[in-house]
Amino acid sequence: MMKLPEDFLFGGATAAYQAEGATQEDGKGKVPWDDYLKKEGRFSPDPACDFYHQYPKDLELSEKFGINAIRVSIAWSRIFPEGYGRIEPRGVEFYHKLFKECRKHGVEPFVTLHHFDSPSTISEQGDWLNEKNIQRFVEYAKFCFEEYQDEVKYWITINEPTSMSSQQYVTGTFPPGEKNNFNKCFQAEHNMNLAHARVVNMFKKNGYKGEIGVVHALQTVYPNSESEEDKHAAALQDTLDIRCYLDGTLNGNYSKETMSLMNEILDSNHQAHIKIKDEEIKELTKAADQMDFLGVNYYFSKFIKAYHGTSEIKHNGTGKKGSSVSRLQGIGEQVNRTDIPMTDWDWPIYPKGMYDMLMRIKKEYPKNSKIYITENGLGYKDHFIDADTPVDDQPRIDYLHDHLVSVAKAIQAGVNIKGYFVWSLQDMFSWTNGYSKRYGLFYVDFKTQKRYPKKSAYWYQKLSETKELK
Ligand code: NOJ
Repeated sequence: MMKLPEDFLFGGATAAYQAEGATQEDGKGKVPWDDYLKKEGRFSPDPACDFYHQYPKDLELSEKFGINAIRVSIAWSRIFPEGYGRIEPRGVEFYHKLFKECRKHGVEPFVTLHHFDSPSTISEQGDWLNEKNIQRFVEYAKFCFEEYQDEVKYWITINEPTSMSSQQYVTGTFPPGEKNNFNKCFQAEHNMNLAHARVVNMFKKNGYKGEIGVVHALQTVYPNSESEEDKHAAALQDTLDIRCYLDGTLNGNYSKETMSLMNEILDSNHQAHIKIKDEEIKELTKAADQMDFLGVNYYFSKFIKAYHGTSEIKHNGTGKKGSSVSRLQGIGEQVNRTDIPMTDWDWPIYPKGMYDMLMRIKKEYPKNSKIYITENGLGYKDHFIDADTPVDDQPRIDYLHDHLVSVAKAIQAGVNIKGYFVWSLQDMFSWTNGYSKRYGLFYVDFKTQKRYPKKSAYWYQKLSETKELK
């Protein structure tokens, strides 16, 4: 039996665009997803789980089920519908009401400023590739710190920058849907590191109360064999997904090795190297010295073998096993291993990868020691029977249990982990797989917007009470 610390936070995670719905309400500005989802014929972002109106219910349930922290994000375009300039008071008010409700139920809000949803005006002007937008992000962040400083203690600058840049410019699964543009991808990676750093430095300079950090998607990358070729391919993939971010935000500088692996990817795709100024590195270093915590999102690991063909990406949006393919020219090929169980969306279930990642951070990036697991969870096709029968999501319980054991082991090994957030608190939509991929502890009937605790919610409630992992 293992025990989690007494003061450990048991959270549930959400994100504005995936949960709120109400995309056209109270003067909210547009985001690229509004038109992109329509054009792609994927699904509608409305009503999602209608968090914009149902949040009191979700917070009441959180309190009842021992969930004492929630990740929410502010939709930039609810506050500044055009990204900058004009302020929408109804948007500002919504988040006051939300934070007040969190306090009422003793649920600590961890508030993300950017969760994949730049306002359309910002994105039309080059999103993170345009330096001006970095300044606009800092201004938006400053507005939020001033406005909500008495209500929010924990701030997160950007959610999963790596998912943004690689899906926007390499796999093409996020708008604007470009493929294999590694130059734009790495430039956006660096610019997001910079945007994060400028917000952290401003937060500290102005002496706001509370703590600030960043959330990274840290899916551990392993070579598929001991061969030098596979090891090198894994190092390249790791550079694209992880190293640039951990170097930039935790060390405040890119190591020589990181730069050389990054340039190797650019060279083999015949693309120009990215621009990094010396003063920018100074800003990154200052922020790394001052940042309070790192948020770790972990879902799966990647097994990579060398690949010499042209890039091919086939996304598994169907929930049918074995149909996704990811091969990147100049990097490597993701292998679907038969000895490792997979989710219905081809994500290898590998809790050891989480432990290895946490130990790697401790060893290679010792500067910032405090960690929250800001997302972890299982996408699953839940079956609802009736209101009196909790959805039987045993595979989700097993998944959460096994990953929390990795967390407990890492704590025992000296990693300073202070809390854990299940993705997701309640069912909402998934960016690429819509409403069929459910993650929630609470089942949502999207027609009636009623919530029903799943078996996993009862399991989590007990864990938060006893802190015991069997
Ligand atoms: C990470 C993202 O932050 C979240 O928005 C997403 O839905 C989950 N991963 C699951 O894919």
